[in-house]
Amino acid sequence: MPCWLPVFFILANTVSGKPRNLWRSRVLRCAWNNVFMSLPMLAPVGSDLYRLGCQLRCTVFMDEQGVSEAEEFDGKDDGATHMVSLLHGNVVGVLRILWLPQHAKVGRFAVQRELRGQGVGRQLFQSCLDHIKSRSVERIMLEAQVDSIHFYQYFGFQAYGGDYLDAGMLHRAMKNY
Ligand SMILES: CC(C)(COP(=O)(O)OP(=O)(O)OC[C@H]1O[C@@H](n2cnc3c(N)ncnc32)[C@H](O)[C@@H]1OP(=O)(O)O)[C@@H](O)C(=O)NCCC(=O)NCCS
Repeated sequence: MPCWLPVFFILANTVSGKPRNLWRSRVLRCAWNNVFMSLPMLAPVGSDLYRLGCQLRCTVFMDEQGVSEAEEFDGKDDGATHMVSLLHGNVVGVLRILWLPQHAKVGRFAVQRELRGQGVGRQLFQSCLDHIKSRSVERIMLEAQVDSIHFYQYFGFQAYGGDYLDAGMLHRAMKNY
């Protein structure tokens, strides 16, 4: 976000005579939440953060999207790296990195419904890319729900192959190489 944007909104709200609406401004709230408050962290398997991340996965993938428990918890968590996003002490984002021989695979990526579209996902995903690169792994792939393809294109991922059904939802494979 450009650094002059909060200043612009303060001036715009003041000039329009609605200073009391200042903190209701979606842009300012988003800027505050996203830039200063949301904190991506590693969540080792068995830790409280990991358990809270699993709860968010249940809420988003099982309750909201109808994925079965067996599909969601597929037995691959133990060998994976897990990350969560903390906001005001709550886990509001989650993802998982699988370390495969040919590439790292990112999945189980979700943000709490009420907070979507405010930059939490982008911040968490960028931290995930940074973490993967810090382990000297350059090749990354994921299986995107087709509605989310443009999210990953923003990070330089390209779709390949055709659409396919996974857990009842249309997906397409994407990679950064
Ligand atoms: C995909 C997801 C993790 C993105 O997190 P987020 O916090 O909403 O993402 P951000 O606010 O950082 O970025 C929002 C961008 O993602 C896009 N986006 C991609 N998929 C989206 C979705 N399902 N819902 C809302 N926005 C989505 C938005 O259009 C927006 O793009 P824009 O800024 O160019 O308009 C989140 O939408 C989510 O949890 N979806 C449900 C779970 C899911 O489907 N996960 C698997 C995705 S493959």
